[in-house]
Amino acid sequence: MVPDYVISGNDCPAGWSDPKKNSPVSTEFSRTLNIDVPLICGAMYPCSNPELVAAVSEAGGIGIVQPLSLSYVHGYEFRAGLRYIRRLTRKPVGVNLIIERSSKKYLEQVHRWLDIALEEQVPFLVTALGNPRWVVDKAAAAGVTVYHDVTSRRWAEKALDGGVDGLICVNNRAGGHAGTLSPQQLLNELATLGKPLICAGGVSTADEFSSAIEAGYAGVQMGTRFIATRECSAHPDYKNAILKAREDDIVLTEKISGVPVSVIRTAYVERIGTRAGALARWMLRGHKTKHWMRTFYTLQSIWKLKHASMQGAHYRDYFQAGKSVSGITEIRPAADIVSGFAAALNLRLKPGAMH
Ligand SMILES: Cc1cc2nc3c(=O)[nH]c(=O)nc-3n(C[C@H](O)[C@H](O)[C@H](O)COP(=O)(O)O)c2cc1C
Repeated sequence: MVPDYVISGNDCPAGWSDPKKNSPVSTEFSRTLNIDVPLICGAMYPCSNPELVAAVSEAGGIGIVQPLSLSYVHGYEFRAGLRYIRRLTRKPVGVNLIIERSSKKYLEQVHRWLDIALEEQVPFLVTALGNPRWVVDKAAAAGVTVYHDVTSRRWAEKALDGGVDGLICVNNRAGGHAGTLSPQQLLNELATLGKPLICAGGVSTADEFSSAIEAGYAGVQMGTRFIATRECSAHPDYKNAILKAREDDIVLTEKISGVPVSVIRTAYVERIGTRAGALARWMLRGHKTKHWMRTFYTLQSIWKLKHASMQGAHYRDYFQAGKSVSGITEIRPAADIVSGFAAALNLRLKPGAMH
């Protein structure tokens, strides 16, 4: 696959387009959104506080708002929260919409969030789960870009049928609900679809970021790395657990939401195990009981994760994180991460620096 990035400098290799002198490396993704660095701070329930979202956008990447996190965890009415972020940065931010249809009430809420996001002129939406067609129809009329979370070619094709502009490729190293394929396997499966692909999972260092862009990704979405920042308001116990954890400390647990979620194996997680109980598994299989069990799990996960993130080990240490913990050794300002990654990318892809 020919990478879609544009590099700075005068001496542009064949196939790469019109470099502007001294401009940062750009990709189709960063050019579409008019941002300097093709780096996303992914939506994180409960860790996406407004200051973190704004800091990443202000530094030249793009921060994604998680509506439930903004309202239920951080206490902002959704529109007021977006306006607060606007006061912190004039640069583009995105909104994450989890569009699963399991609850009518929840879906009505998602419709309201979408309408407000469009009224507030948010330029970028990241949808997850479900068919994004109805979101794309509304967003396209407003000139808004929509990317969808996918874990395989099958889901990618469905998302493209729904009309999305690009794909967030969630791999098997990601925090939150991880995929099953490696970053390279996803790239191989999805490159021929001809849409910009974002690598989500396993990236926490400047070198890994540059490698993902060099391999052909149009951008990178990080979650775990941005929890260990000054701007993230998660409890210090949570941040310290990320600094201490190694890759093999990350385990998948079904205990929080009924489906596997990546967490740090703390003493608490070890004690209670990672498998859903027998009754829960039976209910999740049943046609009639599935819906009730999913609703119970959703409410439980909203509650548990909020308290773990705010109260740290005083509550129960459910610290969601991905395998990228291995590259995270200090708490840094979000802007340093974005600018450090941009500098490394420019250096790696500058003519003459290419191997
Ligand atoms: C604590 C946490 C919460 C997350 N919550 C969401 C979410 O609400 N919606 C979503 O689409 N992705 C969510 N994700 C996934 C991230 O947006 C991102 O894709 C992922 O963290 C990338 O992997 P990394 O953690 O290795 O950087 C979450 C990830 C983490 C670590």
